[in-house]
Amino acid sequence: MSKKIASARISEKSSQLLQELNNSLPFDKTLYREDIEGSKAHAFMLSQQGIISKEDYVKIDAGLSEILEEIESGLFTLDGDDEDIHMAVEGRLTQKIGDAGKRLHTARSRNDQVALDFRLYVQRNTKMIAELLLENIATLVKIAEENAETMLPGMTHLQHAQPINFGYHMLAYASMFKRDYERFMNSYERNNYSPIGCAALAGTPHPINRKITAERLGFNAPTLNCLDTVSDRDFALEILFNIATMMMHMSRLSEELILWSASEFRWVTLSDRHATGSSIMPQKKNPDIPELLRGKTGRVNGNLVGLLTVMKGLPLAYNKDMQEDKEGVFDSIRTATLSLQVLSEMMAEMKVNKIQMEKACMIGHLSATDLADYLVREAGLPFRDAYHITGNAVNLAESKGLDISELSLEDLQSIDERIGEDVVELLDNRASMNARKSEGGTATERTLEQIKSMEAWLTNQM
Ligand code: ARG
Repeated sequence: MSKKIASARISEKSSQLLQELNNSLPFDKTLYREDIEGSKAHAFMLSQQGIISKEDYVKIDAGLSEILEEIESGLFTLDGDDEDIHMAVEGRLTQKIGDAGKRLHTARSRNDQVALDFRLYVQRNTKMIAELLLENIATLVKIAEENAETMLPGMTHLQHAQPINFGYHMLAYASMFKRDYERFMNSYERNNYSPIGCAALAGTPHPINRKITAERLGFNAPTLNCLDTVSDRDFALEILFNIATMMMHMSRLSEELILWSASEFRWVTLSDRHATGSSIMPQKKNPDIPELLRGKTGRVNGNLVGLLTVMKGLPLAYNKDMQEDKEGVFDSIRTATLSLQVLSEMMAEMKVNKIQMEKACMIGHLSATDLADYLVREAGLPFRDAYHITGNAVNLAESKGLDISELSLEDLQSIDERIGEDVVELLDNRASMNARKSEGGTATERTLEQIKSMEAWLTNQM
């Protein structure tokens, strides 16, 4: 069929191998809705401008609606030997309505057609992923609310550092996802311009009106320059980058969930619905879901680097290399969608083991910095001297098998007599956490403020 409608110059039937390499229908059939919607808008514009007759427009529009139904009901299967989705739809239209169908491609090329279909698809999925991010942020904020007082050891280098609360920790991820959301929405705005009407590369002599199609398709306006538009795939790279960054964040959260589920931690328990067993070890409960989320980050990174590499060095304008733009994007969108859905479900059902977390705060002298800060504040010591004195207190606690918060006043004063009795309560872990009241800090009152601010932001997005 493809040969009949678009190969004026080619007289021999294509080699089977060429078709296998060249045909994109097996994957770009994903774009059938966008292709039909774009064709409808284009036909409407052609008739408004008097380029095709009203009668032809009515036939084209009705024919395209029928094709949409045929595809969705499985009547038209998109598995023929058409080169791509554009040829398949146009071919089927002409089969159905005859000559009027052949007028649809006036003032249009597959170059602007594919740029349109793909951009519409990316724009839609950008919004859809952004919505899923909001859901995840809401879930994290809810966990934060329930755990603004749940202490755990904050870490650097995966070593116990200072006491923080679990709500604060969840808000760190909510903040990452918020930036991700904003990145998706920024991309949406930047790319919301219509490619259709650019034709092959240089525009068209037909008296088209690109504003009509832009408006009908929900774009802000037509793009500025046709040569750029038919060769631009930045919008696809942006969604790939946005997904890769979002999945990178998700993989860090996943890694923590995996660690926290280990017997050495037992800080969280994933619901049985989100864990799997082992085929040989009957006792096992494995965190496969966060492992897969962590793992899937690899493929979305690959998709980003893949398209960057395809686009690098291509001369203007359209080159067939660019047909390689789609599969990675489809894959990344599918991966991101499923991952975000699974993540929010799993987080909502995860159990937080508050007692285990708080117990862990007694390991690692988490309030040591508070002793140093005390000596600076109360005894006027230079921080570096205070740091060394505190080191001695840590060593003493270690030699006694205690945490620094468990040292008696006598123990502390044996290290340095400038240590007063008011220090004992400062070294308590909760006091230490709540002392970190600086803006953006972990003190419960600050955490609650951060929750409020996130909630206000969420309400604004709805
Ligand atoms: N299937 C092609 C793609 O995905 C459509 C554009 C083809 N244009 C062309 N002049 N061969 O990029």
